[in-house]
Amino acid sequence: MKRSIIITGGAGFIGSHVVRLFVNKYPDYKVINLDKLTYAGNLDNLKDIQDKPNYKFVKMDICDFDGVLKLMQDEKVDGIIHLAAESHVDRSIKDPFTFAQTNVMGTLSLLQAAKCYWDGNWEGKRFYHISTDEVYGALEMTNPEGIKPPFTTKASSGEHHLAYGSKFFTEDLKYQPHSPYSASKASSDHFVRAFHDTYGMPTIVTNCSNNYGPYQFPEKLIPLFINNIRHRKPLPVYGKGENVRDWLFVEDHARAIDIIFHKGKIAETYNIGGFNEWKNIDIIKVLINTVDRLLGRPEGADMDLITYVTDRAGHDLRYAIDSTKLQRELGWEPSLQFEEGIERTVRWYLDHQEWVDNVTSGEYQKYYDSMYKNR
Ligand code: NAD
Ligand code: DAU
Repeated sequence: MKRSIIITGGAGFIGSHVVRLFVNKYPDYKVINLDKLTYAGNLDNLKDIQDKPNYKFVKMDICDFDGVLKLMQDEKVDGIIHLAAESHVDRSIKDPFTFAQTNVMGTLSLLQAAKCYWDGNWEGKRFYHISTDEVYGALEMTNPEGIKPPFTTKASSGEHHLAYGSKFFTEDLKYQPHSPYSASKASSDHFVRAFHDTYGMPTIVTNCSNNYGPYQFPEKLIPLFINNIRHRKPLPVYGKGENVRDWLFVEDHARAIDIIFHKGKIAETYNIGGFNEWKNIDIIKVLINTVDRLLGRPEGADMDLITYVTDRAGHDLRYAIDSTKLQRELGWEPSLQFEEGIERTVRWYLDHQEWVDNVTSGEYQKYYDSMYKNR
């Protein structure tokens, strides 16, 4: 095998798309999916590639320093793409300790294992850490009605294409995380950079905006709401629904990760985003219309499911990524128009009700726990 790489969190939402891309695109790489299989990890996400000869799954906690070090030695690992994390802001508000443990201590443990194994032989090695735009905090909404943004890409050229302020997250902004989740991700980013600056480890960090697409755990806005609309359950809109997020189709993120893993400059940070800002309430209306249409209901029939609820504590108002550095230096830009991405996503969830039911019932967890308990 030409390379042997570990992808952590490969059974989760984004990780499964990255694993699939690498396994299919690089038959001469050994791709090791290291995942603890928390509630968010699901091997059903990878059924289509699980029998490929260049794929291996290892059930392991990133906090298990000895286990990770031994795995790196046994498999002669020369690259790590690190996605494993606790990823849901609402959970972090209820249980910040778990976020510090996994996102901070887990990342540190992984870095330390890589440092011990690579032992200063950095040639051909790479530690690539996947982070979030939430570390930059929140942007002001200076144009609540929306303005024409300074960026144009194929992906953002749909009818909507608005920006809600004139400032964007750029790579040189200072970190101002607000939630326990973003604070834990910010801390992990600092550790990754510290391992480059102190020991010379070849690291890269990327900070991405909100992803959407197939296999996202249905506690996040888009899959949760698609499922609720289907079953005519209330849609809990936090606050006034005015918060803005920048949405990127998950396969575009996976493609960016591939390019950056191979061509990104050591010690650099790249922001990844969709140039695609939406107020939550506007997305929710698109979801209602799309689900209704695809289920043969009159479009908009389910608007009365919208239920305004108490706002999320510390709710960041606006995220908007400027990813022109990545576009300019490595030639990446989002490929899929949002309207097309949402249509594909809604169709996928409607066609995969069994997946949604398994994930939400926890049945898959019991099954895989018994399957892997002796490994
Ligand atoms: P996810 O919650 O869907 O998946 C996380 C995966 O990590 C799961 O498979 C889980 O089992 C695994 N995991 C959790 N704790 C672990 C541990 N201690 N050891 C090993 N595995 C563990 O997350 P996601 O939405 O796919 O996000 C993946 C990464 O991308 C995260 O680091 C997240 O911060 C980052 N990110 C996510 C988004 C987004 O919109 N979802 C945007 C930007 C960045
Ligand atoms: O920006 C990148 C981040 O995007 C990632 O780092 C996180 O891992 C990912 O979970 C996501 O964070 P958000 O908090 O933005 O995503 P979420 O889907 O939880 O919420 C999107 C918006 O919708 C947010 O403004 C809160 C709102 N919301 C969410 C839920 C779950 C609601 O109004 N109601 C809801 O029930």
